[in-house]
Amino acid sequence: MALLLLAPDLKMDKWEAALLEEDPNLDIRIWPAVGKAENITFAVCWNQPKNELKKYPNLKGIISLGAGADHLIGDPSIPEDLKICRIVSPSLTRQMTTYVTGAVLNYQRKFYQYYRQQQKKVWQRHSHTLAENLTIGVMGLGKLGTPVAQQLAALGFRVKGWSKSPKNFENIEAHAGQGTLNEFLSGTQVLICLLPLTPRTEGILNLDLFKKLEHPAYIINTARGEHLVEEDLIYALDRGWIEGATLDVFSNEPLPEHHPFWNREKIIITPHIASITYPEEVAPQVIENYKRVLSGMPLLNEIDREKGY
Ligand code: NDP
Ligand code: OXD
Repeated sequence: MALLLLAPDLKMDKWEAALLEEDPNLDIRIWPAVGKAENITFAVCWNQPKNELKKYPNLKGIISLGAGADHLIGDPSIPEDLKICRIVSPSLTRQMTTYVTGAVLNYQRKFYQYYRQQQKKVWQRHSHTLAENLTIGVMGLGKLGTPVAQQLAALGFRVKGWSKSPKNFENIEAHAGQGTLNEFLSGTQVLICLLPLTPRTEGILNLDLFKKLEHPAYIINTARGEHLVEEDLIYALDRGWIEGATLDVFSNEPLPEHHPFWNREKIIITPHIASITYPEEVAPQVIENYKRVLSGMPLLNEIDREKGY
């Protein structure tokens, strides 16, 4: 009975230490030093190699190392009846809320513009859109999108939200379902993507959608790179439909050296750091779910594999 840490891009020694601090009796294996495959009963995964997870005949459950589990759901080698769960934590929520709020304020108050002026010793004031006149649309009102929308509403912005099922939050104009997408986009000046990556949401940030926003609009994508059709963003920037973007996630990470986004002054790039999972904070929920899977109890934060998130 062993727990496998399977995340080739990450150093896993801190994870091992945090888990052992919580439960010194755990038998932990760090991939690729797996030992006997039949001993593995639970796997903690991030960007696992495709087809790897079908090698463990006694695997009973998998937890994503992050809030998103698209790397697991999109892996056809994972048996359909295997339980998959994800991390939900106050720290991830706080980090996302502060990142997105920072990006919105940076855009609204033109901090980068002033920074560029400072490089040239230029003293020049610009007007800005007051919060009460700026409409922000949050796509995805889940564990991360909801607190982001609530924080922005608390700062006085006009906030709309879009989700699959209906929601009701104070000071947020909530829209639900594909049929309401146009209404949600209409009048939206800043669009934030916090959707999970599913076949329905892949490529959703495309030219057709950009055309429906209030122009010029601003895009913030902290969900997944595959939500955005990258060439459409460049086209919309050049047309003036989109004024700029803050992007934390990309279809190819690290963003390749010759990617056109690097040279675009109006695109702010961060290297997938909006919310970082810290092992010491989430070790207790990993172990809780490990115990639950072994005892046949329902998992915390389980992914609905039918819904895809
Ligand atoms: P949740 O699963 O809690 O919320 C997802 C939301 O999206 C829900 O409101 C859901 O609607 C809505 N949704 C899903 N599909 C559709 C659809 N087809 N149409 C309309 N709405 C839809 O996810 P989280 O808030 O925890 O996380 C969101 C994403 O953020 C993650 O999947 C991950 O990709 C990304 N992320 C990025 C990080 C980073 O550092 N950049 C860090 C952490 C997460 P409903 O409520 O009705 O189900
Ligand atoms: C996550 C992420 O899903 O960091 O947690 O992208």
